Amino acid sequence: MERRVPAHIAIILDGNGRWAKARGKIRIEGHTVGYKKIEPISLYAQSLGVKVLSLYCFSTENWNRPNLEVKFLMNIPIEMEKNIQRYIKNNIVVKVSGRKEKMPKATLQSFEHIVDATKNNTGMVLNICFDYGSLYDISEAIKKIKEDDAVIDENTIYKYLSTSEFPKVDLLIRPGGEKRLSNYLLLESAYAELYFLDKYWPDFSEDDLDKAIDEYNHRNRRYGGIKE
Ligand code: IPE
Ligand code: IPE
Ligand code: MG
Repeated sequence: MERRVPAHIAIILDGNGRWAKARGKIRIEGHTVGYKKIEPISLYAQSLGVKVLSLYCFSTENWNRPNLEVKFLMNIPIEMEKNIQRYIKNNIVVKVSGRKEKMPKATLQSFEHIVDATKNNTGMVLNICFDYGSLYDISEAIKKIKEDDAVIDENTIYKYLSTSEFPKVDLLIRPGGEKRLSNYLLLESAYAELYFLDKYWPDFSEDDLDKAIDEYNHRNRRYGGIKE
């Protein structure tokens, strides 16, 4: 039987700090190595036929970390921007989900530049979730529904989420050993298959993505119905 490739895969990039600690390094060294995994894993996902890859890179709760670490993480988009030509050449469409108001101007500008430069690409969507939190996204959706005086129902609520243009999450992967969602794509993952692995994100490989997709192919997705 042919392997089904999930249309939308979401990954919680977790374990950078512990990866560094285990090697006697400081946490941000883990973020540096973790950051470098984004491009190869994205390209591999695209080569498999994934339509949308959402990556949780900074949560609305991650502001609670020490200043220096937050500052370092805010530089990730600026680093990404340096490789903008590669994203263009590789036909990846970069999108960003999350709160725009709180991040430094330079961070936001880098994001805007990458998004704009890749908007005419036709390949996989790489949805960078940055200062993203599901509860924040839902509360913004409700505010806008109120402003528009729209009828509140299941479809409207979903339509007003920042991610509504994407297919719902089919497979959600969390490396790092924790078995929780940490405020990530809660509604979008309502029927996602969950895959947890102990490996830290900096050690995550193409092979690990393959294994997750293999496991996904053994899941029986019923959506509340019955399947023999
Ligand atoms: C990266 O992993 C996730 C981010 C918030 C950037 P962590 O920094 O959470 O690493 P651990 O979980 O402390 O090991
Ligand atoms: C989730 O990881 C957020 C990101 C990976 C960006 P955390 O490390 O912040 O989550 P908790 O605190 O373990 O739940
Ligand atoms: Mg963590």
